[in-house]
Amino acid sequence: MADPKPPTDPAPPPPTAHPHVRKRTRVKHVLMTIATMIAVVAGGAGVALYLGLYNVGALRPHLEITYKFLAIGMTRSVDEHAEDIVAPPLDDEALVRRGLVLYQRHCLQCHGAPGVAPEAFALGMVPHPAPLSHTAREWPANEVFWVIKHGIKMSGMPAWAFRLSEDEMWAITAFTMRLPWLAPLEYEAMVRAVGDATPVRHGAAAAEREEGAPLTDGAVPGEPAKAAARASEEAARAEASRAARSIAIAIARPPGATREFDFVAKPARSTPPAAGATLAPIGDVVRGRVAIYQYVCTACHHIPGTERAGSAPVGPPLEAIGTRAVLAGVLPNTPENMVRWLREPREVNPRSAMPDLGLTDRDARDIAAYLYTLR
Ligand code: HEC
Ligand code: HEC
Repeated sequence: MADPKPPTDPAPPPPTAHPHVRKRTRVKHVLMTIATMIAVVAGGAGVALYLGLYNVGALRPHLEITYKFLAIGMTRSVDEHAEDIVAPPLDDEALVRRGLVLYQRHCLQCHGAPGVAPEAFALGMVPHPAPLSHTAREWPANEVFWVIKHGIKMSGMPAWAFRLSEDEMWAITAFTMRLPWLAPLEYEAMVRAVGDATPVRHGAAAAEREEGAPLTDGAVPGEPAKAAARASEEAARAEASRAARSIAIAIARPPGATREFDFVAKPARSTPPAAGATLAPIGDVVRGRVAIYQYVCTACHHIPGTERAGSAPVGPPLEAIGTRAVLAGVLPNTPENMVRWLREPREVNPRSAMPDLGLTDRDARDIAAYLYTLR
């Protein structure tokens, strides 16, 4: 009889094929793949940066994802670093008043105050300085203090440790923590009470310029044809928006409407879905979208379709503002009233916390054109 050796007897496993070893090899393989991918992406980003493909200009905001990333990084970092700071009592009125005086001198220019716009230069910063009435609702005093003292890298927020004493920084913190509970008129009264000689400004250096600059750049030497093409494109765009504007105003006041309110009282859907009216009623929608960022509207409003929407709810969200009957609770919603509100909210309603941001007529029309696309 032959040996009953089963023919299928498996060969003894090679030493490397032990399950643990096999698993380790697989993990190593995955890690290597991830590392290679990271290296390729980082390398690609480096090459793109070196070739100048990234636009560092502050006319355009960051991508939404960049803001999210920066915001998470900043809040986590502040949380972590401010942990051991214990805030002294901050309710003392004298301390708050002292803080107000210092705030006026060092912070107002960038952050504004209730009903007071930041200075013109601060409106063009990316990221823009946050309205602190919102911050102070969300952050504890020790974190506000830490940020004042240390500043924030890559944002434009200065470190004050070498400029102010500890006491002064706590005084500013005390005032900042009071901000969310101050309406514009109370803020003004407080400024008067501390006898600050600086008049309370209501507007960002109200624009003396007639028109904002075009978004496209001027003539480039050696590129006259391109420049001419751009100029005629601009002219065509201006013409189109003028035409669209007269359409919109015609729609806004249909024949027979005795008062502006007759139009707005009708449900929005009953107006003809005129393409011109939805896309560009009174100005340039595309330029308006950029202007919204340049006047820090998104610092206070959730505005659909713009970056950083909803990050700082100081004012009402502007969803479907194009269909709303009443603006800011006081004006019938017409294109003309919208432009008026955007240019001088505190003339319309002196109690309003929306500051006069120094918009030109063109800027206000372009922004309004964008807002009327929100339906
Ligand atoms: C040159 C402009 C500038 C000045 C002056 C300035 N800040 Fe800022 N501040 C910024 C910018 C920009 C940021 C970053 C905004 C962001 O990322 O939200 C910031 C962020 C902050 C934050 C965190 C707010 C948040 O919600 O992100 C606080 C708090 C703050 N500043 C307080 C102050 C105080 C108090 C002063 C005065 C002592 C001051 N800042 C002066 C520009 C400025
Ligand atoms: C500092 C915060 C702040 C900034 C910046 C700001 N707003 Fe406002 N906005 C408000 C507040 C607060 C209100 C509510 C005011 C009221 O009803 O009196 C408001 C009201 C409005 C309304 C009326 C909303 C409604 O529900 O009727 C519109 C439209 C508007 N803002 C657009 C803008 C635009 C466009 C910009 C940029 C040019 C801007 N806001 C900048 C705070 C702000």
